[in-house]
Amino acid sequence: MNQFTSVNDVEDIDQLVKDALALKENPYAHQHLGKNKTLGLVFLNPSLRTRLSTQKAAINLGMSVMVMNMDKEGWALETEDGIVMNGTTVEHIREAAAVMGQYCDILGLRSFPKLTNRDEDYNEDFFNKFIKYCGVPVVSLESATRHPLQSLADLVTIRETWKGEVKPKVVLAWAPHVKALPQAVPNSFSEWMCKAQDLDMLDFTIVQPEGYELSEDFTPGANIMYNLEEALKGADYIYVKNWSSFKEYGKVLTYPEGWMMNNEKLKDTNNAKVMHCLPVRRDLELSSEILDGPNSLVIHEAGNRLWAAQAVLKDLLQGLA
Ligand code: CP
Repeated sequence: MNQFTSVNDVEDIDQLVKDALALKENPYAHQHLGKNKTLGLVFLNPSLRTRLSTQKAAINLGMSVMVMNMDKEGWALETEDGIVMNGTTVEHIREAAAVMGQYCDILGLRSFPKLTNRDEDYNEDFFNKFIKYCGVPVVSLESATRHPLQSLADLVTIRETWKGEVKPKVVLAWAPHVKALPQAVPNSFSEWMCKAQDLDMLDFTIVQPEGYELSEDFTPGANIMYNLEEALKGADYIYVKNWSSFKEYGKVLTYPEGWMMNNEKLKDTNNAKVMHCLPVRRDLELSSEILDGPNSLVIHEAGNRLWAAQAVLKDLLQGLA
């Protein structure tokens, strides 16, 4: 790998999952790889899990880490080319990214979508320019359209916990929220699950109210459903997540009652484990009874963010050696 921005950057996802689980067993075996190497983490948006797990992963590999909260501490960045910078932006991404690349061997970047212009967000203009100008390998810490470190951790969690004889049924289930949220997590989860389905690792279903369909670019081969009760029948894993509409871009559409996940909805599942990327709005997206009960995998899943990040950084460091 020379960058990690989507599942398409990964040659062998099964091997990457195995690497993550091996690192969980033996976290400090590769410290020589990160000696005298620096990871820079650039955040344009808040983070708890991504920030701490990626820092810890780098430390486990012997790296030094620098964090830049660009939104609060950095200069206001310009991304347009060919304009006179006589407005509020202070530094062009051409210089800013290039300078960060001078100080770091690998850079991580988080940049959320604005959710106002679909083409602008889905073109990943900011992310692509950052990659182009920084000159070092880039790890996505969540872009406008994808969150691959989260999705890798999710697949690691499913592989680690599944003890069944046949492949598991995994359901991505839309849930309510008060805010318009990006499609990055569900896009990415779907993309990784579709790839895993192609490899016969699992069966994948997405269930959502009408109007909340994800871009077809991220759902090849997924079983798309609209009836939550039907979709959950026989499920082994339920991945609960809200997202705003892709079709009516960035909008929170009206939806029927009954989309919050609770214990009642688990009754026709195969005693399904419930996942969520976190942060979660209790008793809006997911009931407290699930979060505090035996079916919840959310803390285990967040713990696996560390091993997912470490597997990715290890692979990138091996490419630098
Ligand atoms: N799941 C996730 O990415 O969490 P943070 O936004 O806190 O990093």
